[in-house]
Amino acid sequence: MYRTAFLDLPPLQGAAGCVQLPGSKSISNRVLLLAALSHGRTTVRDLLASDDTRVMLDALRHIGCTVEEESTSTVHITGLGTRTPQSPAKLFLGNAGTAMRPLTAALALLGGEFELSGIARMHERPIGDLVDALRQLGCQIHYLGNEGFPPLRIAHGAGLPALRLDAPIQVRGDVSSQFLTALLMALPLAAQQQDVVIEVVGELISKPYIAITLALLARFGIAVQQDGWQRFTIPAGSRYQSPGEIHVEADASSASYFIALGAISASVTGEKGIKIQGVGLDSIQGDIRFIDAARAMGAHIEGGPNWLHIERGSWPLKAIALDCNHIPDAAMTLAVMALYAQGTTRLTNIASWRVKETDRIAAMATELRKLGAVVEEGADFIAITAPASAADWRAASIHTYDDHRVAMCFSLAAFNPAGLPVRIEDPQCVAKTFPDYFEALFGVAQTTQVPVLCIDGPTASGKGTVAAAVAQQLGYTFLDSGALYRLTALATLQAGIAIDADNEAQISAIARSLPVRFADGKVWLAEADVTDAIRSEEIGVNASCLSSLPAVRSALVALQHSFARLPGLVADGRDMGTVIFPHAPLKVFMTASAACRAERRYQQLIAKGIAANIDTLRADLQARDLRDQTRAVAPLQPAPDAIPLDNSTLTIDQTVAQVLSWWQARQPFAAPAKG
Ligand code: DC
Repeated sequence: MYRTAFLDLPPLQGAAGCVQLPGSKSISNRVLLLAALSHGRTTVRDLLASDDTRVMLDALRHIGCTVEEESTSTVHITGLGTRTPQSPAKLFLGNAGTAMRPLTAALALLGGEFELSGIARMHERPIGDLVDALRQLGCQIHYLGNEGFPPLRIAHGAGLPALRLDAPIQVRGDVSSQFLTALLMALPLAAQQQDVVIEVVGELISKPYIAITLALLARFGIAVQQDGWQRFTIPAGSRYQSPGEIHVEADASSASYFIALGAISASVTGEKGIKIQGVGLDSIQGDIRFIDAARAMGAHIEGGPNWLHIERGSWPLKAIALDCNHIPDAAMTLAVMALYAQGTTRLTNIASWRVKETDRIAAMATELRKLGAVVEEGADFIAITAPASAADWRAASIHTYDDHRVAMCFSLAAFNPAGLPVRIEDPQCVAKTFPDYFEALFGVAQTTQVPVLCIDGPTASGKGTVAAAVAQQLGYTFLDSGALYRLTALATLQAGIAIDADNEAQISAIARSLPVRFADGKVWLAEADVTDAIRSEEIGVNASCLSSLPAVRSALVALQHSFARLPGLVADGRDMGTVIFPHAPLKVFMTASAACRAERRYQQLIAKGIAANIDTLRADLQARDLRDQTRAVAPLQPAPDAIPLDNSTLTIDQTVAQVLSWWQARQPFAAPAKG
């Protein structure tokens, strides 16, 4: 996840490949409970790994289900079937409403003694309407804290309680649809001898979520008869039966960004289209109807049970006029697709946008206008006309209003025909539903120009520290090219080969296939953590020696180029700006006086408990400078277009701020607001 203040997306030209979307939270917990109530063993795939699913899995173990976790996304659950749950049991359910409500209902009907609690916030979330409905049936439920709220105690003897099933069970539908979902998932346990009827009192909210519950019940063998949205009948003789294997669908609204991506981006590599894994044409989520809208705009979409494949069809896209009441969340994506359509796209019946995470009609209108679109907005509609030509597009810093969907859908503006970058402010707001959204986008997006920022300079000039900090603030990849020379030196010595010009061929063979991996701030050579080993003075001197061998230098070129990945790269070394990334838009040549660098290195070594002599260090530094500057290939020298930066009198923070301000000055955006 990107935790930076902003994320700059360079202009993107194409996209192709496969995206695996994370599982939907509400489907995950429903499926886990249904599997737990069923006869047989269920393999659940593509489960969302989250706090809410974790507490559900723990609870199921406590009541006696066998839970085998093959991986974070695949679990096998052996359901209770006709067994009674293990009791007494105390279940801690965190802040998961999708666990608290349905488990309360199911355990109240199954019988036994249970205490259900959660974090403080969970104890402020109402459950009274559900408890009232269960008490009507004859279930024994007591509040352990405040009336109407968890924690709760369910107290029955073992075995099914005697239930009053003759009259319809009434439940309110206008507070949370989870109460009805809980009853729908629990009452099949009681519908043995007779039909069980549930009646909704008041207007039912969130109907698509009830539709999800009904569809999942059908997968587990329960055919609920539906009379509008007011009356539901569970037929006598209902019995949960495991479907054997079930895939948790990905969030259909999250799929909309990648459906749009497939519709607007041609591939520049020949690989065709975007494949989405995790949600398919038979999705039970209402937002899957986004597919119809994307097709109407021109997308070619194929699909199967758990996948979709999207290719660009009509181009430019076709403007549409659509009542979006049935796909409120995914419709925001259509507003951004409209930037690539001929004509005016009109999205109507979207008054609910005004009361979501932010006023989404106002937010979309403001941000689309920043990009150059002509936008009309009303109380319940938005109409978007794309910029007339490439010249009418503007580079924009997109404000995201702490709204995950604004951040995700505006990333698609990076495909603009003007080749302009797009800045997404506060990118971490995507965590609400899709923490790794940008990583998934970068996994399939293609660009001809990954932005590279080069920081070259002599040893101990502070360039490594500064480059790492700059990379972190921009969310860019970081390449410490010196580490590659150091790794080559270490691997060569470990192989028992002397670092000598006579061994150039052998050393360059080692360099070409270095088994190196940078992960979590550590450097790995094959299976060994060599983070500290490559930092010794001995390895530094050997690295300097082998770096003067031309074949070794060229052996490392491809590896260095491979670090230029989306969204960008900060590279430090000696020849980043001169040889490896000569077209980089910003090159900094960082120096500090020899005295200053010797002092910094001395402090570094002392801090690590390594004895050092400052005069020797200074002499070593100067000898290494001389060798690096006078070698025949790629000598240490500033690129003609590099900006010199002597940081002898600057702190690290000041140096980082200076480099970032030069970088910002090269971007077409205004500097982000402070604070
Ligand atoms: O930056 P450093 O001290 O970790 O680099 C170790 C040696 O590697 C250095 O003395 C010169 C060499 N080097 C190089 O020749 N070219 C680079 N781009 C980076 C390092």
